Amino acid sequence: MNNDYRYLISSRNDRLAQDAGHRPRFFVRTYGCQMNERDSEKMSALLAALGFEQAQSQDDADFILYNTCCVRESAEDRVFGHLSRLKRMKMDKPSLMIAVCGCMTQQQEIAQKFEDKLSYVNIVFGTANRHRLPEFIWRTIETGRQVIDISGLEEDSPGKLPELDDVPVTTREYPHKAGVNIMYGCDNYCAYCIVPYVRGREKSRDMDDILHEAEALAADGVKEIMLLGQNVNSYKPGFPELLRRVNDIPGLERIRFMTSHPKDFSDELIAAVCDLPKLCKSVHLPLQSGSTRILQDMNRKYTQQEYLTLAQKLTTAGIALSTDIIVGYPGETEEDFEATLEVVRKVRFSGAFTFIYSKRSGTPAAQRTDTVERKIAADRFDRLTAEIYPILLEINQAKVGRSLPVMVEGIATSGACKGRADDYALVHFPCDLPLKQGDIVNVRIDEAKTFYLNGHVGIK
Ligand code: 5AD
Ligand code: SF4
Repeated sequence: MNNDYRYLISSRNDRLAQDAGHRPRFFVRTYGCQMNERDSEKMSALLAALGFEQAQSQDDADFILYNTCCVRESAEDRVFGHLSRLKRMKMDKPSLMIAVCGCMTQQQEIAQKFEDKLSYVNIVFGTANRHRLPEFIWRTIETGRQVIDISGLEEDSPGKLPELDDVPVTTREYPHKAGVNIMYGCDNYCAYCIVPYVRGREKSRDMDDILHEAEALAADGVKEIMLLGQNVNSYKPGFPELLRRVNDIPGLERIRFMTSHPKDFSDELIAAVCDLPKLCKSVHLPLQSGSTRILQDMNRKYTQQEYLTLAQKLTTAGIALSTDIIVGYPGETEEDFEATLEVVRKVRFSGAFTFIYSKRSGTPAAQRTDTVERKIAADRFDRLTAEIYPILLEINQAKVGRSLPVMVEGIATSGACKGRADDYALVHFPCDLPLKQGDIVNVRIDEAKTFYLNGHVGIK
């Protein structure tokens, strides 16, 4: 049936192209994490396969899709802000079709809000039915009515969530790197987190499907793959085994993965990261809090000491660590916060995403009444970054004078290039060699800043 919808839309777009001189144009905006980025790439590929062409900007689009995030309230506020602009756009251009999908819409009360208050949004769909986008588009065209469908999340089909496997891998944001989903959902139920409710139960994707996708990407010129999941360490039948198989794919040069949960980071996995040559020696290991008491409240299932022990194993093995930290979780005292600062000082993260706790309705933490005052949370946030930034600078300063292999990420016409070292450090360097994205060059580091390095190309 889905193929019929695809045919109907393609034929319509062919006709429109003949009449208007160009195909209807689509624009996709992505909020949130790398999994959303990857989903958006696949939906863009699907839209291209349906005969739409990519718009240069939102302003000249005929079909606008927002792929949303709801992990913090600020992410949702941003989406609603941008949508109100689209409402004005649609007044000038009534044929504009607007679709919203992803984690935010998967919440029942948000879906209801679209029905009650945002009737100018044509299509609202969730995280588990994006493969039905052609059907939703066609139903909107046919009926002119709003389509809201967030079904499919609870269907029990392990490893077989619609992955849009049939869209071409050649439609990508970057020529040289791509994400590959290896699992969906999350079973950890950290007390603050809405993800398990909007992404559903944890499901591992079939290893053969993952390998086929990675092979197809490598054959299409991708040099770096990021294996994606909410908790990749619990991949079934085994994450180290998957890493070994991906490492064997010819053409790939770098493999990264995200996100790891400290409770599942085995010695076998550490050994795999160390031994497999294509595995980047950097790991994202969310801490969330350094206080054992708060970690317990958060349902994180590790103590401060367990985290420190694991972090030390990894850093001793030469693996750089980045992290996520939340301040102002309900009940967090000054002492708890200082425990977080203590971990930051001991581990010396080479990157950190820091967040003020955001109440998400439906999560256990949202029931708590012992909330931390906004002002205190904001103050802790500032003190946390004040602790982290000098460490980032020191870590970068230790690289001055060294020569690092850097994968080229972007080249400006002025010859200004930027790229990433193995440990994900951002490196700027001038270069007039005929480089392209995905090339790896040796860059000698001349100067360290808090968030990046400056260098020049050395001998290859
Ligand atoms: N409030 C603040 N930060 C949150 N995160 C997840 N849920 C919340 C929340 N309710 C952060 C965690 C997670 C990252 C992706 O977002 O640090 O690791
Ligand atoms: Fe959310 Fe915890 Fe799952 Fe991460 S591991 S997605 S923080 S519930």
